[in-house]
Amino acid sequence: MELSNRIKKVKPSATLVITAKANELRKKGVDVIGFGAGEPDFDTPDYVKEGAIRALKEGKTKYTPSAGIPELREGVAKKLKERNNIEYSPSEVVITPGAKMGLYEIFAILLNPGDEVIVPAPYWVSYTEQIKLCDGEYQTPMLSEENGFVLTADLLKESITDKTKAVVINSPSNPTGAVIPKSELEKIAQVCLEKGVMIISDECYEEFAYDEPHVSIASLDKDVRDITFTVGAFSKSYSMTGWRLGWVAAPEKYTKAIATMQGQTVSNPTSFAQYGALEALKDGGKFPKMMREEFKKRRDYIVEELNSIEGIKCNKPQGAFYVFPNISSYIKGDIKNDVDFASYLLEEAKVAVVPGSAFGAEGFIRMSYATSMDNIKEGLRRIKEALAKLR
Ligand SMILES: Cc1ncc(COP(=O)(O)O)c(C=O)c1O
Repeated sequence: MELSNRIKKVKPSATLVITAKANELRKKGVDVIGFGAGEPDFDTPDYVKEGAIRALKEGKTKYTPSAGIPELREGVAKKLKERNNIEYSPSEVVITPGAKMGLYEIFAILLNPGDEVIVPAPYWVSYTEQIKLCDGEYQTPMLSEENGFVLTADLLKESITDKTKAVVINSPSNPTGAVIPKSELEKIAQVCLEKGVMIISDECYEEFAYDEPHVSIASLDKDVRDITFTVGAFSKSYSMTGWRLGWVAAPEKYTKAIATMQGQTVSNPTSFAQYGALEALKDGGKFPKMMREEFKKRRDYIVEELNSIEGIKCNKPQGAFYVFPNISSYIKGDIKNDVDFASYLLEEAKVAVVPGSAFGAEGFIRMSYATSMDNIKEGLRRIKEALAKLR
């Protein structure tokens, strides 16, 4: 039987593909250094694990309400008030099986066929594919490298059409690490209010802002809050990627719709995982702070080293745990594009990176520095050696 047109349009996640390729080589005994990972290289804190184990032992192993256990919805609402400065009632928070599912659910409840979402490029790989799955359309206006890949209100304004229903903003950004300053968020919010465009604010990397504190766009004022979906997760902040837990906070009309969707699809996020997450919320941000301090050192090192390689240009990102260097000067001869460049590094240097084209930006690569300083040093040494051969 033919597969549906819907699934035929969807590309597999390029970041997962590169990780799988590197793992395959490792299985064969090849010593590959991976800069592909989209997850912190820290273990989940013990107190979180213990919370989940306790829940298992207490028999909290049954269905929960579709929108998540009330304690966790309350906990996230409290965190959003105290740490992000946004007022949400617990009924305006829905717990989702990861931010990824939360985002998919937003597109599903918002889009009719032909409705358009603005997804500034370079963008995280799943936005466009999820929009396609929901029969929506997208535009991917290119952000300026010179401006550090920061979305501006002017670019957004130019991109809005009659069909535009929402814009995705992702600050700090995957893949570029760009952080949108508060002054620009204010202008972006103004454009969205004027044009009647919803804001989907993916704040998965909120704990990893190195130079200025993170600002949630919904914290600007009540009117902005009312047109915003604030999306977050335990995945990166507490190194809980495999637990599959995130949230969407938005006016109740939307969280109710997402809960209905969950009720008919996943039923609920995993019961005992939610109890573990409750413990994460109690630490008040200590664990993410520890990671933030470590990541900052790695960022400083990797940016400096990359810029010391002839022909590579790398912005200093202000957040997340990725760098997005421009490698276009190496695109010549047998290396026809960034995919060939990434393949060359994997074969010649045994280093895994993700080609920028996966994120809608050719001529770049994404490197994750969520790997040890020793790996970073050795990986960069190998990259330097391999690139010297090309010159
Ligand atoms: C920008 C961005 N949003 C969402 C997600 C998904 O997060 P989760 O693991 O909570 O589904 C990721 C994960 O890589 C991401 O980079």
